[in-house]
Amino acid sequence: MSFNLDHYKHTAKAVQVDDIDFDDFRDQPLSADALRCLHYMTDVETHTVCYLRDLLVTPSHQNPRITTFLTMWNFEEFWHGDVIDRILAVHDEINGLPRHESVRRAQGFAGNVVAPITQCLAAAVLGEDFIATHMTWGAVNEWSAHAAYGRLIELEQHATLTKILQRIQQQESRHLAFYMSEARERLEKSRRAQRITRFALRRFWAPVGSTITPKAETRFVLNHLLGGEDGGKMVRMLDGKVDKLPGQEGLDLVSKAMASFGVRVATA
Ligand SMILES: [Fe+2]
Ligand SMILES: [Fe+2]
Repeated sequence: MSFNLDHYKHTAKAVQVDDIDFDDFRDQPLSADALRCLHYMTDVETHTVCYLRDLLVTPSHQNPRITTFLTMWNFEEFWHGDVIDRILAVHDEINGLPRHESVRRAQGFAGNVVAPITQCLAAAVLGEDFIATHMTWGAVNEWSAHAAYGRLIELEQHATLTKILQRIQQQESRHLAFYMSEARERLEKSRRAQRITRFALRRFWAPVGSTITPKAETRFVLNHLLGGEDGGKMVRMLDGKVDKLPGQEGLDLVSKAMASFGVRVATA
């Protein structure tokens, strides 16, 4: 069954934290490792509007069903970043607008000018089938985000953090449901879309956030969240999900990306 977009657009909202006492983090602060992961996570969440900029120059913007979703998606992702920033603020960590601005400036000419132009041109050549790649890419990134929050919950065992991250995860699940239903439908319909998507994933996919943050930070987050035995299980689960998409079997996408960052995936 296809995703109920009408219901989603009427229920998309800022993640609810009115009942959360952020001072809990003063009484029981998070570990330095968790804070480092949260910095990475909020950098990604608050960069959503820039990812959106790069997508609105592609054929995806001609499809009003997709732009309706992206409008709500961008709104919800914004609040994910905002809530994580509140956690960082309680720990006296740099957060909010100064941090977001420094991340955007760090992208330089290549990230801010060349990337949207090349994406625009490449996507225009591919036409409608580009949308299948965009939707598949989105699904993989939502799976990854959901898994990353889940692993942080398990590792940190902090009741207030768990409550907040589970609410974020619920919204990531709805994002995933949209991307998945669109990706599956489009890949099933077109062998060309399958081939383009397979090529793009194999050649260009990298863990979400890795293109905007220093390599050392990506390596740290991958190692902290997806290293070890439990992390290895998660990586294999993610690879298995990609495998099930039409024409995308056997890519070992996340395992290979981990290896490219020098992080070993624990075997079963
Ligand atoms: Fe998010
Ligand atoms: Fe999301």
